[in-house]
Amino acid sequence: MSKKVKSVNYGLEKIFEGAQDFLPLLGTDYVEFYVGNAKQSAHFYKTAFGFQSHAYKGLETGSKDAVSYVLIQDKIKLVLTTPLNSQSPINNHIVKHGDGVKVIALLVEDARSAYKETTKRGAKSYMEPVVEKDEFGEVVCAGIYTYGETVHMFVERKNYQGTFLPGFKKWESEYNPTSVGLKFIDHMVGNVGWGQMNTWVKWYEDVMGFENFLSFDDKQIHTEYSALMSKVMSNGNGRIKFPINEPAKGKKKSQIEEYLDFYEDSGVQHIAVATDDIITTVSQLKARGVEFLPPPPLAYYDDIPRRLGKHKSMMKEDMNELQKLSIMVDADEEGYLLQIFTKPVEDRPTLFFEIIQRMGAKGFGAGNFKALFESIEREQANRGTL
Ligand code: FE2
Repeated sequence: MSKKVKSVNYGLEKIFEGAQDFLPLLGTDYVEFYVGNAKQSAHFYKTAFGFQSHAYKGLETGSKDAVSYVLIQDKIKLVLTTPLNSQSPINNHIVKHGDGVKVIALLVEDARSAYKETTKRGAKSYMEPVVEKDEFGEVVCAGIYTYGETVHMFVERKNYQGTFLPGFKKWESEYNPTSVGLKFIDHMVGNVGWGQMNTWVKWYEDVMGFENFLSFDDKQIHTEYSALMSKVMSNGNGRIKFPINEPAKGKKKSQIEEYLDFYEDSGVQHIAVATDDIITTVSQLKARGVEFLPPPPLAYYDDIPRRLGKHKSMMKEDMNELQKLSIMVDADEEGYLLQIFTKPVEDRPTLFFEIIQRMGAKGFGAGNFKALFESIEREQANRGTL
């Protein structure tokens, strides 16, 4: 890597250690959803999830075909986009998938290089590098397709001082609900079709230079009725983590199959957002109407001291509070974690959110998979999709 790159202090020293990292990623830049009504979705994410108004583009800013609202909470940026007429190709995405994630944008030092290195390794192009300018500077963006119709956009904004991107104006709103303490995106999970997990694992290895740092097979992730397999892919500095799930054979239909049926494609299953005070965050989310999966059985909480093992004395949270809020606990060698999952945030049972607080643990709550999937199965049974 060049000296110029090294001189930029993102606090991510590890990125540039290995000359083999042909795709240094500085973090998640934004996540863009294509939705049926962005104005109402934006209201939902502000009111229910505590996001703040950040930027806007639409008819008033000269955008004739689509409107986008950008919401922010600490390091998390969500973009909600709706087409303004029937001619926009965004409609096709919404007709097929319902509301869902279109773009996982990754912050890079050099978007042209990111595009060149990934397309050279077999990535399908979504958008060649484009330079957009306004009075605040310039941004270079380029995109490649990943699973389904989902896109990774590379965003280079080191020469830009504006609010979000050229074309957007700052969005000042008189309605500003407070934050619920969400800090950053911890991981984003993709669901892919039968037999496709290893194809996409290889794709992330070959095209993006990621590594598979955790794997779960259907013997580890199953209930009486359903099963799935999962491999966690991570980039060189560990900032970006993309677990990839595929369904496995069980007596009944797994949640992954249900997702694939309703999204009608591979796509983003959940976005895990980190907090450093999950009790406060989840209390606020519940008070604001966010729906979570039904609680694990009572016996689940009796088993937590055993699961925490050597980390038991480290735990600061009150177990009664956790149980009252149905927050789940898991531990690994390095520490413990607290997590909870929302119900799907659209009418189709597709995308949902995870709220996670890591207290040293690097895993994904494998000890909770069984209790979690049994909760999901109860929901599937209610929907008649189990
Ligand atoms: Fe997760």
